[in-house]
Amino acid sequence: MATSPFLTSFVRHRDPRLLWPVAGVASVVAHGVALVMVRTHTVTVHHRQTGRIYTVEVPEDRYILQSAESQGVELPFACRNGACTTCAVRLLEGEVDQPEAMGLSPDLRRQGYALLCVSYPRSAIQAETQDEDEVYELQFGRYFGKGKVRMGLPLEDD
Ligand code: FES
Repeated sequence: MATSPFLTSFVRHRDPRLLWPVAGVASVVAHGVALVMVRTHTVTVHHRQTGRIYTVEVPEDRYILQSAESQGVELPFACRNGACTTCAVRLLEGEVDQPEAMGLSPDLRRQGYALLCVSYPRSAIQAETQDEDEVYELQFGRYFGKGKVRMGLPLEDD
């Protein structure tokens, strides 16, 4: 498991004006074409339901789920939009950036949960898939079977 110290992913941009500074990204312009070089990280996912362990290389500008699929790895998903929590994992090691993870409360993010469909790796990562409905229960279970119904969205409390 490692984070590549070298820049390994190249993307061609015809218009260099479209480039902007991003952490971990360097760019050069040659012959009127900008080459953007992005660091990659090793992401290891223990798929607890199947007992399999997958290791993939993911550039910092790619979603982990999508990148894993392009490398032949099948992980749980449903909405692909950061809303349903089917793709949630527990991070055992490493960091992700998941600004679009609207289905995950700030508290669960702090506890180390991540939604792989909208997570960008920011370091080498070790993760494991959640138990069925684990994140859903942690997030919303406290609102069910408690009697009184409260107005408003549950995530507003966090
Ligand atoms: S697949 Fe629905 S939140 Fe990731």
